Amino acid sequence: MHDPLVYLNGVMTPLSEAKIPVLDRGFIFGDGIYEVIPIYQRQLFRAEHHMARLFRSLAAIGITNPHTKDEWMALIDQVVSAHPAADQMVYLHITRGVAKRAHAFPKDVTPTVFIMTNPIVLPSAAVRQAGVACVSMEDKRWLRCEIKSISLLGNVLAAQNAAEQDAVESIMFRDGFLTEASSSNVWIVKDGAVMGPPKDNLILEGIRYGLIEELCTAGGIPLSARRITRDEVFAADEVLLTSATKEVLPVSRIDGLPVGKGVPGPVYAKLYAAYQDAKAA
Ligand code: PDD
Repeated sequence: MHDPLVYLNGVMTPLSEAKIPVLDRGFIFGDGIYEVIPIYQRQLFRAEHHMARLFRSLAAIGITNPHTKDEWMALIDQVVSAHPAADQMVYLHITRGVAKRAHAFPKDVTPTVFIMTNPIVLPSAAVRQAGVACVSMEDKRWLRCEIKSISLLGNVLAAQNAAEQDAVESIMFRDGFLTEASSSNVWIVKDGAVMGPPKDNLILEGIRYGLIEELCTAGGIPLSARRITRDEVFAADEVLLTSATKEVLPVSRIDGLPVGKGVPGPVYAKLYAAYQDAKAA
């Protein structure tokens, strides 16, 4: 098996040899944040946006940013350059560091920094053509979903709920309103207009959230961010997922019911094409 070089606290090491102490607060408390950045032809896609979100996540949980932006980019470049694949998915993981187990922040602790990369696995053409199945569920996560936290148990359970029903994602609702999916943002399309939930504490603002806004504006597609009811999702003409690894992906069924005509629609096709253009630009 390929054993890629990863970065851990200043050292490049084979993944199989990378180790962290058991008192790392990421292991003990899930006290950390992460970032996932797609790489196409060895170029980071939307690097500025991902860096800005990384910095926001660190600030949101009070971890002093251990690196400047240039340093981060150089570290990522080291890991990306060491991998043979041209198209990758870089994973950055920063925890508060290693300290005696006590809930409140320890003093004078050095953050743990881990960076790895893998070949990016995108949905196949056959999957895109058919669209994917999703299931719905109540959003039972905490109220700080805007932080890209490594404490992902709520998302893990939502993903497992989908997997057990042969679906790719659980689409979640809080108090009857759409939030997001286990590991992607969700959009609905009605009468040619795209709608997404507001960018608040109930969802992670995906880097593709901003990109969809830009692509809709450029393509003359009306877009609004507002609270979306469960009924609106089930009555939508199209439902789309976006994430670093799904790009833009059409949903063809939710809870076994067809979305619109049960096949990917024209707004999906337009946004997917625009996304591919943005990657190539
Ligand atoms: N997930 N919402 C959640 C809960 C997510 O986990 C993700 C991404 C998104 C979309 O964000 P972006 O467009 O920046 O990928 C929305 C990543 C890919 C993951 O956890 O692997």
